Amino acid sequence: MHLRFGSFPVVVGSSVDMAKFFLKTHDLSFVSRPKTASGMYTTYNYSDITWSPYGPYWRQARRICFMELFTPKRLDSYQYIRVEEVRCLLRDLFRSAETPVLLKDHLFTINLNIMSRMVLGRKYTQEQSLSSGAPAAFVSQEEFKEMIEEMMLLNGVINVGDLIPWLNFLDLQGYVKRMKMLGKRFDRFLEHVLDEHSERRRREGEAFVPSNMVDVLLELADDPSLEVKLERHCLKAFILDMLVGGTDTSTMTIECAISEILKRPETFDKATEELDRVIGRGQWVEEEDVHLLPYIEAIVKETMRMQPVAPLLVPRLSREHTTVDGYDIPAGTGVLVNVWAIGRDPAVWDAPEEFRPERFMGSPIDVKGHHFELLPFGAGRRMCPGNNLGLKVVHLSLANLLHGFKWRLPPGMTVEELSMDEMLGLTTPRKVRLQAVVEPKLPSHLYGA
Ligand code: HEM
Repeated sequence: MHLRFGSFPVVVGSSVDMAKFFLKTHDLSFVSRPKTASGMYTTYNYSDITWSPYGPYWRQARRICFMELFTPKRLDSYQYIRVEEVRCLLRDLFRSAETPVLLKDHLFTINLNIMSRMVLGRKYTQEQSLSSGAPAAFVSQEEFKEMIEEMMLLNGVINVGDLIPWLNFLDLQGYVKRMKMLGKRFDRFLEHVLDEHSERRRREGEAFVPSNMVDVLLELADDPSLEVKLERHCLKAFILDMLVGGTDTSTMTIECAISEILKRPETFDKATEELDRVIGRGQWVEEEDVHLLPYIEAIVKETMRMQPVAPLLVPRLSREHTTVDGYDIPAGTGVLVNVWAIGRDPAVWDAPEEFRPERFMGSPIDVKGHHFELLPFGAGRRMCPGNNLGLKVVHLSLANLLHGFKWRLPPGMTVEELSMDEMLGLTTPRKVRLQAVVEPKLPSHLYGA
């Protein structure tokens, strides 16, 4: 499908064949990103990984992800953080048993805590809002959540000035003003984080050992052999990408999975049967157990099929002229791959509107970018570099939420009233947050309450 967004041509691929064309056969032609005001004002002039155009800087950033930040060894070394935070979630839900909880708030908290501890070395946000006398760098958890949500929204909005550049200066929708404000709020926070880490490095001198991703990035910034020097604003952009990229995505996926399960309780019964059989009611699920739980893995795939967090992936930009089926795609064309539509294509899936994890039992289809009918992390050179980490968090959390609790809707609410409507943004969070009631299933001493 060819569209015109203001002055710019855009093509949309909504089939398995088109996804292969853009993300595999001609991946290198479509590997860049369009320049948008949000990339300029919220990610340090495209210095992050997500919005960085194709070139040596982006290639180096991807190498850093795979060689330094997301190696299996590093992810394993942070396993204890994921386990501790998931246990906190289970404890907090146990304490709220039998009263309606806003699940997303709980999920956001653990996902932010996991990402903060892995990336920054500790939690930086405070539980409560601070008085006005507090240092500007500190933000409450509520404020940080609002900042991440604003980031996702502003990175996905249709900003008139991006499409019709001569109207840019008018900022007709007020988005650019909001982007600049958000950029400054994140910058205060990130400056503080970098100062604190640099200070520890200086203090510890020769004895310094990097213990989190910011430490690793600071060491790399001093490496003279790097192809492109990592300036301070690049470090801030990387850190932001990881905090934002890793928090909202996992939160939304788990919230969607529980919503779908509440709509189809037999899924919950099957999951419980598997968990009781494989894990037993005397212990929690560990990361190593996940491959023994094919039905839980199938629930995650089915959720990602029906509710991919980025339904159009992140926009790409063609670098050179290409031809598809006799049609020309000139250089400079925007490209959207509609993975939402592919996930619901009746030519590919039986009963695509039904949540049926069973369809993945015994199926070779995975989410790793090789099966173009299921692309929640994208595919090709731009594929999400955090996919292994994201899956670890989603599997561990969801398996334990289903193992630890029975789930039901608040009294008086029916399944039909459970809204799956979404909001606009780079990701599409639910318009109405899920409220649910939990009933503990395991012996109470396991919850640590
Ligand atoms: C369930 C969890 C997650 C989902 C569903 C998800 C999904 C995605 C998608 C769809 C893209 C765009 C791919 C494309 O343009 O083709 C993406 C890119 C990206 N993701 Fe994730 N993601 C998740 C977790 C994470 C985590 C944990 C991190 C890092 C800590 C992360 C960091 C990134 C970055 C940096 C990019 C930009 C890559 C580039 O442009 O080269 N994501 N993600």
